[in-house]
Amino acid sequence: MIGRLNHVAIAVPDLAGATAQYRDVLGARVSEPVDQPDHGVTVVFVELPNAKIELLHPLGADSPIAGFLARNPSGGIHHLCYEVEDILAARDRLLAGGARVLGDGEPKIGAHDKPVLFLHPKDFAGTLIELEQA
Ligand code: CO
Repeated sequence: MIGRLNHVAIAVPDLAGATAQYRDVLGARVSEPVDQPDHGVTVVFVELPNAKIELLHPLGADSPIAGFLARNPSGGIHHLCYEVEDILAARDRLLAGGARVLGDGEPKIGAHDKPVLFLHPKDFAGTLIELEQA
């Protein structure tokens, strides 16, 4: 059901520092920071040949990654995003199998203007999973 790995999201306490590390130490192509107020994050996209890395930094007072950074003050992997062809079919199959979809279970428009859903980390080896309709 899942297809390509779309991105790995890493929450970082210092966005400029993490961006410089990916650009200057690892030699990756990085974007300018992009504010995404609807998602409570500022994102820098790291373009790899086969996937993206997204450096996430809290934006605003009630950012969804603030708690994660409080528990992981030096940052850490926040979620993995897999592509699916049909997000509603994927959701229904997962729900039928007993997996938990976060929120109200309806896809939201994600960081790439495509429908996304998040799956409960306790159901998937302790990893928050985002599904994106490719
Ligand atoms: Co994501």
